Amino acid sequence: MPKNIHILALETSCDETSTAVLRASLFAEQPNFTLLSNITHSQIKLHAKFGGVVPEIAARSHLEQVKLITETALQTAKLDLKNIDYLAVTAGPGLIVSLLVGVEFMKGLALACGKPILAVNHMEGHLYSAFADRDSSGNIKEEKKIEFPVVSLVVSGGHTMLVLITSLHKYRVLGSTVDDAAGEAFDKVAKILGLPYPGGPAISKIAAKYRKKIALGCVPKINFPKPLLHSNNFDFSFSGLKTAVRYYVEKLPPEVVKIQKAEIAWAFEEAVVEVLTKKTIQAAQAFKAKTISLTGGVSANIKLRQELEKYSTQLGIKFFAPPFELCTDNAGMIAIAAYFQLKSGIKLKKPERVNADSNWEIW
Ligand code: KG4
Ligand code: ZN
Repeated sequence: MPKNIHILALETSCDETSTAVLRASLFAEQPNFTLLSNITHSQIKLHAKFGGVVPEIAARSHLEQVKLITETALQTAKLDLKNIDYLAVTAGPGLIVSLLVGVEFMKGLALACGKPILAVNHMEGHLYSAFADRDSSGNIKEEKKIEFPVVSLVVSGGHTMLVLITSLHKYRVLGSTVDDAAGEAFDKVAKILGLPYPGGPAISKIAAKYRKKIALGCVPKINFPKPLLHSNNFDFSFSGLKTAVRYYVEKLPPEVVKIQKAEIAWAFEEAVVEVLTKKTIQAAQAFKAKTISLTGGVSANIKLRQELEKYSTQLGIKFFAPPFELCTDNAGMIAIAAYFQLKSGIKLKKPERVNADSNWEIW
């Protein structure tokens, strides 16, 4: 019976303090993992009134929460620090003051307990989260059989990119946003519409309500531009779309905006989803992808998941998206990326050589 290993992972790259414990069987005939705990303390309420993340507030909150969240993750997994074989921490990219809290905390733990530590790239965390699945008992496990090449659409608050994954840890960026990230556009449009931060869930909620009205015969009148839809590359642009929403709203009296809010949110979501879906499908066809994956916070968007799944299935391409719990920033995805590092036989660094790097690029 191959030995199980346990990974304790920590994510503090932005405004979530999150710790996870993953049990993995690396040397089994079919290597696999189970996520035993994934505890996240979100700082959304602290930053909401500022309409975005305030680095100093984020770092202070990470400092306050990190020990408690780590203890809770271990307790939930019914394990003790002595049962942990590897520590893993997000070392970048992200807000430097936030990353430093997590990296220094884990380095301290590694040195104090003599445990090996893995530096994980936040983007790799998102990329590998799509390979996890939920079994019939609700456990998050590695169950999806990855077939390369994979075309991955990574859409978060800070990134929008199409990445070609040819094998584990071999990436090529096919295109990215030339201005705002998709999640950032959701957040900014939500602000224009007076919806709460983060904007993605708020916009999709009212857009879904309007979609139901359309199903009942309501005819939409708003049509926003679909930026770079027909460009000859895999780049994206969302700043013009956001401006189009702003101009549209500014021309209307507030009481009309109130009435039209759901339709505006719907039209915006439709435009974003159409551009993201079409470009991803085009990239998958151009690079003969066997799998399409969708990751990052915006992968929680139901409409986007549905559209990508529909077109992938039509083309006979597998479609993977993470379980909802792994979409927005969390340590579960960091533990999973660490598992894939170990699976590929990564060379471990000494704890003192693990450093936070806010601009760490893996491509
Ligand atoms: O990956 P993430 O948690 O943090 C970053 O690394 O940026 O992504 C957060 C972003 C936010 O911009 C949020 O508005 C967006 O993901 N988001 C969504 C949805 N849920 C979260 N966007 C669209 N639809 C959603 N359901
Ligand atoms: Zn993220």
